[in-house]
Formats: sequence, structure tokens, C-alpha cells
Amino acid sequence: MAMQDPRFLLETSPRQNLHARFAQDVLRGLSAAPKRIPSVYFYDSIGSELFEKICTLPEYYITRTEKAILETHIHDIARFQNGSDLSLVEFGSGSSYKTRLLIQAFLQQQGHLTYRPIDISDSILREGARRLLNDFPALRVHALAAEYDDGIRKIQQANVSPKILVFLGSNIGNFEPPQAVDFLNKMRHIMQPRDLLLLGTDMVKPRHILEPAYDDAQQVTAQFNLNLLRRINRELGGDFDLSRFRHRAFFNETESRIEMHIESIGQQQAHIAALDRTFAFRAGETIHTENSYKFTPDMLQSIFAAAGLKRLQHWQDADGYFRLNLLGPA
Ligand code: TRP
Repeated sequence: MAMQDPRFLLETSPRQNLHARFAQDVLRGLSAAPKRIPSVYFYDSIGSELFEKICTLPEYYITRTEKAILETHIHDIARFQNGSDLSLVEFGSGSSYKTRLLIQAFLQQQGHLTYRPIDISDSILREGARRLLNDFPALRVHALAAEYDDGIRKIQQANVSPKILVFLGSNIGNFEPPQAVDFLNKMRHIMQPRDLLLLGTDMVKPRHILEPAYDDAQQVTAQFNLNLLRRINRELGGDFDLSRFRHRAFFNETESRIEMHIESIGQQQAHIAALDRTFAFRAGETIHTENSYKFTPDMLQSIFAAAGLKRLQHWQDADGYFRLNLLGPA
């Protein structure tokens, strides 16, 4: 089993009292107007599993489009490799389903590889590593169960270089634009002059393509969104009635983002024991749970410039739905 495999190492970042932080963030978010809950709390083990399922939905074009771009251009991408001892560092790796293409290409080139996936869910990391180690005997996986910022710190401490940083799935779009610039800036700060950053970005496209990707027919995304309330019920002693809330997702064109909300069906209250508080909801009132920004080429250009990054190359699908950007320090 991979867990006993000497090629596998899993570190867990010591998170001071996640439970207390969750309670605090829920208290702050549900006391605000409009109400909100940070999207980091989607990804408990149930949420992470649901998200893996979202990635296979017919409406969710992102995963398969990005994978197809990787497949088509893998040799082009691998050509940028400098040296023969590159490490592959991935933020928000999930199950590493798309990354295996890169892993395979770099293994072919240099015969060995250390892959460092960073994800908030240790169960997804274990599962992903198990499959990779099965398929690639010359691979080492040094996984880190942590949030992005801890991941950055760890990579900096370990002085990993040369390296390619990988941030796929347009996860960058889940930051507010100023925070996206901040985060890319932090990445740039742990890059040596010849290190690389491969960044997946979802592009603006017609609403009739965008919206179903976040509101699928099988309602997996709805379950994923509502799992936040389930998690509050489970971990904080909430009494949310899941049948009285619904999933809402729409494209906000002015802000160039998909917004996800949990909407209250009717007027109601919910009590959360761990907070010793009751929250009131008006009919139609929403909890804003996620943004997924959709980019134009101009937006990308200004974000990269502001983060001190220069684009070495980019690749996209024929429809221009999705882009892979290869970046280096400016
Ligand atoms: N980065 C992904 C995206 O914005 C995350 C995501 C996909 C997501 N589907 C979701 C987040 C549904 C919340 C809900 O597309």
C-alpha cells in the first residue's frame, strides 16, 4: 500500500485549532450583510469527494478542456524544463488527475521526479498518491496537507529548486483579483530566476456555457454547496434544515465572475450551538459562498504584470474556453 511505501511522505501542517477558526469564520460571515462563508470550508472529506465528482460532470468543461490542452501540448510544455532535477510542486492538487500528464513527461525526460502536491484534504492526497505511485515506479511523492500559504512557506523553507509550480483548474479565479495578485506575488517570491509557474485560467465565454458548469443537472454542485450547511450542522451543532435552502449559481457579467450562493427558501432561523447564536434568514436571502472569476486576455496581462511575472508562452483550446499560461519571474 502506498501509505507504507518509502517513496511516499505526507506532512500535515499544524493548523492551530481549525474547529475554533471555522466557528469564528461562520460567526463573522453569518453576522455580515450580505451573509457569506469562506469557500475554504467546502473542502472537508465529503466536499473534496463531491468536488472530484464535479470535475467529471458533462457540464463542467473546465477539467476536460484543461486536460486536453495539457495532452495536446505536453511536449511543448516539457521543453521549457531547465536542468535534469526538476521538482513538480502543485497547489490545490486534489487527486492529481490532470497532473499525471506532466509527471509522465518529466519522468520521461529526467528518469526520476519528486512531486510535491499541496492540498487541504489529506484523504484526497493519499488516494491520489497511491494511484500515481502504482503507475510510476521512479516517482517520489512528498505531499503536504495544508492551505496554500503554509504550502508556500514549506516550499520556501525546503529550498526546492529547480522547480515548476503548478496551479490548475482556474483555482486562481477563486481569489478576489487583488488577492490573486498577492498570491501570485508570493509564488514569484519563492521562484529562482529559471523556475516556472504553470497556471490554468478559465476564460470569459457565453453564459449558456458558463452557468450550467456551476449548476449541473445531477445537482452535484448543489450538494457540494449545501455541504457547507451540513458541515455546520455536523461540526458546530447547527440545525439548518437542508430542504429549506437551495443552490444558486449565476454569471455576474459586470464583475466577470460566477457567483455561488445558498438561498433561503422562505423566512426562517437556524441555531448554531457552538456559537450559542440564532441567525435569521429572509425569504430569498443568500449566503455568498464562492466566486469563480472568468478572465479576458487583458485581465490576465495586468494581473501577471502586477505580480511581477512574465508570460513565456500560453496554450488554449480551439474555442478559447481555457488557457494554460507558462510564467516566469519578470
Ligand atoms: N476552481 C474551480 C472553479 O472555479 C472551483 C469550483 C469548481 C467550484 N466548481 C465549483 C467551486 C463549484 C465551487 C462550486 O471552477
